[in-house]
Amino acid sequence: MGNYRIAAIPADGIGPETIDAGLEVLEALSRRETDFSFVVSRFDWGSDYYRKHGSMMPADGLERLKSHDAIFFGAVGAPDIPDHITLWGLRLPICQGFDQYANVRPTRILPGVSSPLRDRGPGDLDWVIIRENSEGEYSGHGGRSHKSMPEEVATEVAVFTRAGVARIMRYAFSLAQSRPRRHLTVVTKSNAQRFGMVMWDEIAAEVAEEYPDVSWDRMLVDAMTVRMALRPESLDTIVATNLHADILSDLAGALSGSLGVAPTANIDPERRFPSMFEPIHGSAFDITGKGIANPVATFWTACQMLEHLGEVAASTRLMAALETVCAAGVLTPDVGGTATTRDVTRAVIEEIRVSNA
Ligand code: IPM
Ligand code: MG
Repeated sequence: MGNYRIAAIPADGIGPETIDAGLEVLEALSRRETDFSFVVSRFDWGSDYYRKHGSMMPADGLERLKSHDAIFFGAVGAPDIPDHITLWGLRLPICQGFDQYANVRPTRILPGVSSPLRDRGPGDLDWVIIRENSEGEYSGHGGRSHKSMPEEVATEVAVFTRAGVARIMRYAFSLAQSRPRRHLTVVTKSNAQRFGMVMWDEIAAEVAEEYPDVSWDRMLVDAMTVRMALRPESLDTIVATNLHADILSDLAGALSGSLGVAPTANIDPERRFPSMFEPIHGSAFDITGKGIANPVATFWTACQMLEHLGEVAASTRLMAALETVCAAGVLTPDVGGTATTRDVTRAVIEEIRVSNA
């Protein structure tokens, strides 16, 4: 229980709309829970900042974030700035600088939301994808030479380290152990990629020995997409590389009904630095300012933030409120409804206010 310092970085597109909604909901929770309060510092970093200053955040950005208990992040990306600049200028430096090596992506079909999978509803799909978040295909190693010449060369090197793989594997096995089914699926592509991916498989088998009560299996990433679509109930906790899990989590979001509800947490499990919580959806310029952005992903990631801070009661209360509101059909257009961001936010706040205990 406590008073937390939260750094809000709403950034681009629908980020500010959903983060504002998220902060309102947190405010409502703090009125409802004894001993839970927070103060917000808001940072105006992102694409507008870039247009003014030529960088996505100030040089001492990480230093300024350090003293916070958590980071609440909106979305980055702008139509007029290359994506690799917005990404490598803000989100990745925070993830890598704070060694948030575990990216946690829960997926469920929420009540009231329909899955594109025929005859599947809540209970048929309940997954947590653990994405390795510090190395692999996003290591930033590589380069280009002979630019624009016929002999131009570009390399994009995936880096896998024993330390990096072992720590994400331990995180994934522990998380699987904490869930009722105690099952982990380890995803690689070790038939085609003989070095890094074979090492993943070996380290998975080694770490599995430390968790005799967790059952586990292995999947190649291509076959995994088929299993997710055809046998969603056979999966529970999933661990994969940075890029594989990026792709699988979009598929997971789509199968659960909408990317608009999918949350993510960038966690430093050792708690040396603040962890960062964000909706998976991007800046969504097509609907920015229209007031119809789905705030559910941001509310759900607020649940992850509360859980990480140890505010389990508040987290459970928010998740329950969210599910009640979805089940009642207060849904934005991306999930088949006609409600606005405001409507959903108000309904969740009201649900928090009237909830028991
Ligand atoms: C995600 C996103 C990002 C990623 C994009 C915005 C670069 O797709 O969080 O899944 O690939 O990491
Ligand atoms: Mg993605």
